[in-house]
Amino acid sequence: MFHVKEELVLSDKQEALVVGLFDQPVKFSGELANLDKAFDGQLTELVKSGDISAKLNKISKIHSLGKIGIKRIWFVGLGKEKELTFDHLRKAFGKTFKTIKANKLEEVSVYLDSFLTETINGLDAAHALSEAIALATYQFDHYKQKPNEPMKRLENITVYSTAAEKKEINASLTVGYAFGQGTNSARTLVNTPGNMLTASDLAAYAVELAAKYNFEVEILDKADIEKLGMGAFLAVNKGSSEPPKMIVLKYQGKEEWEDVIGLVGKGITFDTGGYSIKTKAGIVGMKTDMGGAAAVLGAMEIIGETRPEQNVVAVIPSTDNMISGNAFKPDDVITSMSGKTIEVLNTDAEGRLVLADAVTYAKHHGADYLIDVATLTGGVITALGVHTTGAMTNNDSLYEQVLEAAKEAGEQMWQLPLFESEKERVRNSKVADLNNSPGSEGHAIVAGAFIGEFAEDTPWVHLDIAGTATTSKEHDLGPAGATGVMTRTLALFVERFEPLKK
Ligand code: BES
Ligand code: ZN
Ligand code: ZN
Repeated sequence: MFHVKEELVLSDKQEALVVGLFDQPVKFSGELANLDKAFDGQLTELVKSGDISAKLNKISKIHSLGKIGIKRIWFVGLGKEKELTFDHLRKAFGKTFKTIKANKLEEVSVYLDSFLTETINGLDAAHALSEAIALATYQFDHYKQKPNEPMKRLENITVYSTAAEKKEINASLTVGYAFGQGTNSARTLVNTPGNMLTASDLAAYAVELAAKYNFEVEILDKADIEKLGMGAFLAVNKGSSEPPKMIVLKYQGKEEWEDVIGLVGKGITFDTGGYSIKTKAGIVGMKTDMGGAAAVLGAMEIIGETRPEQNVVAVIPSTDNMISGNAFKPDDVITSMSGKTIEVLNTDAEGRLVLADAVTYAKHHGADYLIDVATLTGGVITALGVHTTGAMTNNDSLYEQVLEAAKEAGEQMWQLPLFESEKERVRNSKVADLNNSPGSEGHAIVAGAFIGEFAEDTPWVHLDIAGTATTSKEHDLGPAGATGVMTRTLALFVERFEPLKK
């Protein structure tokens, strides 16, 4: 799909060329000077008149009308060179390729050298480009009788760069594309409705992923889950006619199984709320309650592609949360795998229950560090809105590494506090060790605190993506619907991970 070439020849026959323009004021230098010359200085004039804009995220298209071999040129406004960040660049590429996709082009060239700054080198720009192309052109195939408009795939992208070794640019394009594709896989899982993605389907998907990337895989079925005493996970599944699955994938990138990162993702394929049933309006959209699982699987796909020198165990508890004569109820007391007993006060607070056993099981598989990702609470939306993932931790050094990864991935994250006062609320029950719903004050925090009871002393970061897993609006890096949030953050975190000093 990507080809790297060094020299840009204006007379070569090409459908389209993408060029970056800095606002400084605009000077056409290097190969662009020749371009301006080929147009008898008209490009400079078009910039002056505002027909071509160098403002950040402004895209202008001109037709060459036969003056050169390249048919169309897309100018991508990049703003002030000093102010351009990696994230800006990724979004600008995203917006550009959305437009190009809408124009149904199958072949595009990118003049990468025109996008570089003092802090963004050719390898960074290549990563931003290929990641953005994958993300921005994502489309979820719907189920209408009238099929999706057949998508013209961008088949050929030629990247012109003299910036670094061709090989390295190529590798960077491949990695960036893998980050985009992993995110898109997560999006597709989240967009798929609950009747088409049961726990068994999710398990089958994980098995396929394992086969493709040579991961060790373990799928626990109901009998295994019972044997292991995962009473919290089983309680949530009790009302369902679909069997639960505990999905485990292992990737070993080090000689020894040490410094193991546990990635735990909430895999509720549909959340009715159970007997603490959701409202008519609140229940719609609950197919997305496996967004944490999707992010973990998306990250595993990227890890499978990039094969970092790290050890990872991914654990996904999957079931739907349904109502029937068998379903669990408020007031029930259940026993988790850890031995901790839980008084159920709200069956809609099911995510923390399945995660409790998953976190315990990740530790059984040797996880030395834990990151859990979950569409856990409406409370996080009240606290932080829909653009920011809520985070909690028992270890600030580990959190710093996650936050760094999130910044680089362009995913907003904000830490919520975990004080003793809130731990105490979770531990407050007359009949059990814990309760699963101590009231709605700060409920994003008490949900995290509950999971923390099972992480215990293991360094742990909790990520609540209830607000960020989906978006109601189209954006520069994708359509409305599932975002695949945290896929890239997790993958980057794993890639860069440095074990904490003991
Ligand atoms: N899956 C929901 C959280 C959620 C809400 C995800 C909105 C996506 C969008 C979770 O299981 C839930 O129902 N949480 C309750 C907890 C409450 C009962 C303590 C909530 O947030 O209302
Ligand atoms: Zn719920
Ligand atoms: Zn839920």
